[in-house]
Amino acid sequence: MMNNATVATVLVLLYAGLGFATNQRKRAKLPRVGRAGPFGYAWTVLRSVLDSDGLVEEGWAKYGGKPFVLPSMSGEWIVLGPDDIEQLRRSDDTVFNAPERAKALFLPNTMFGNHLTDHPYHLETIIRSDLTKSLHSLVPEMHEEAQLAIPDHIPIISGQTSATIPLFSTMVHLIARVSNRAMIGAPGCRDEKFLQYQVSVAEEVIPMSQILNWFPAALRPVVWKLFCVTLGAKDRAVKLIGPYVKARIDYAQQDNPSTIVDLLLRYAPEEEIKNLPMLAARVVHLNMAATHTSGIFTTHALFELARLPPEQVEMVRTEIAAAIASEGGVLNKTAVGKFYLLDSLLKEIGRFHSLFAVGSSRVTLKEAVISDGTVLPPGSVVALAPKPMHNNPKTYSDPETFDPFRFTKLRTGAGTAADIQQSFTTLSNDYIVFGIGKHGCPGRFFAALKIKVVLAELLLNYDFSFPEGASHAPKPFSFNIFTVPNPTAKLVFTKRQRF
Ligand code: HEM
Repeated sequence: MMNNATVATVLVLLYAGLGFATNQRKRAKLPRVGRAGPFGYAWTVLRSVLDSDGLVEEGWAKYGGKPFVLPSMSGEWIVLGPDDIEQLRRSDDTVFNAPERAKALFLPNTMFGNHLTDHPYHLETIIRSDLTKSLHSLVPEMHEEAQLAIPDHIPIISGQTSATIPLFSTMVHLIARVSNRAMIGAPGCRDEKFLQYQVSVAEEVIPMSQILNWFPAALRPVVWKLFCVTLGAKDRAVKLIGPYVKARIDYAQQDNPSTIVDLLLRYAPEEEIKNLPMLAARVVHLNMAATHTSGIFTTHALFELARLPPEQVEMVRTEIAAAIASEGGVLNKTAVGKFYLLDSLLKEIGRFHSLFAVGSSRVTLKEAVISDGTVLPPGSVVALAPKPMHNNPKTYSDPETFDPFRFTKLRTGAGTAADIQQSFTTLSNDYIVFGIGKHGCPGRFFAALKIKVVLAELLLNYDFSFPEGASHAPKPFSFNIFTVPNPTAKLVFTKRQRF
């Protein structure tokens, strides 16, 4: 008798073998990474579930940064190299299309409803301009929330000076609370039950979107519904956030918005304002984009700070304290703008730890020719590989070394265009953590401020160290194309006197 694992493996191999057979007809003529032949293809697909990073590294080394195919459970990716990035950056969605690809990869229509993608006003109007303009007023609020939330998340027992906590989950929850101070305001941002579900949404939706991709399109809504009624957090999060969103509608302070939902209400169509679950689903979806990515950065940053020589940590801390003092003791947006060392450290986190095996994915709507002359048929999926691009010795000296101040060293200090180029949130063809071109992450300014506010508050109040026996963070965990910090790893927070 075969056990469940064997049956599952056989099914996956059959599925992948079928994929290989059908893809033979549609595929562009490009080399493929992994083992040869149909069984090798199936094996490579299986490997991609937990080791896409390794496969990308292998393909990059073997084909010298030229395009190659990466098979995966959710279809084939054509991994493009540095020679194609400019073409992708300039693309206006007519040939290399981002929204269609995002729909196919993350299945927002199946999971959240068609209204998100049919009318993406949250993207066009809110994040791209209004939110960025509102950041001045949101920073002090987020700082206040961080001050209130940190002692809840790092509970130090009376009589003791330190606490050892699981870092990744704690940082994701802390970021969710601080983020929601900006998104829905207080008291909603302190509703622990809602925050728990909100955090779980991303933890379910991202892997589930990859798993749903394994099913035929017609079956996906059924499988998703079944999941939602049994385990899913999404419907619960939508229900729990509803009253807070409703409160913002009732408040209707649209001339003087104080939360991101207030900004959304300026553009929401009447039918969505009248349909609370629809509006609430949009907020939960936006929250999802705003939480885990920032939590990942904060976690990596703290692990790296725990490894740095104390004098380097002290340099970061001193600069933060001086910037706040220069603003009369207030942690506002101008003060955060002077955290150059922290900015460099975060940019180096993005370079060194790259969050995904492949990113900035696009689907071709028409035939397209790439740098090596290969013709891609419509429907081809292309993507960039952050890790090898960020490890390119032609772009970054000594790329294997984590150098927290790599980017401050490249600044002249005169605030020139070349200086701005070094900042964490500047998009460039050499630094693709926030993507490229017109679809480069529109939430990155908000994300960077939020992460810096949280890290500044932690740096000023705690010292960080590894639990006994550990000297660095354990290997991150990968699933499909995503990599997150190891969820079991802990960090020791020791209370320090503020100077
Ligand atoms: C450190 C945190 C973050 C990282 C690393 C990150 C990364 C990314 C990346 C790589 C993309 C795809 C870019 C491309 O296709 O070229 C993206 C898109 C996007 N991000 Fe972020 N993101 C972060 C935070 C946020 C936040 C806080 C928000 C919302 C407030 C947000 C909202 C979005 C949206 C709406 C898109 C889709 C843009 C479009 O398709 O035009 N992100 N992000």
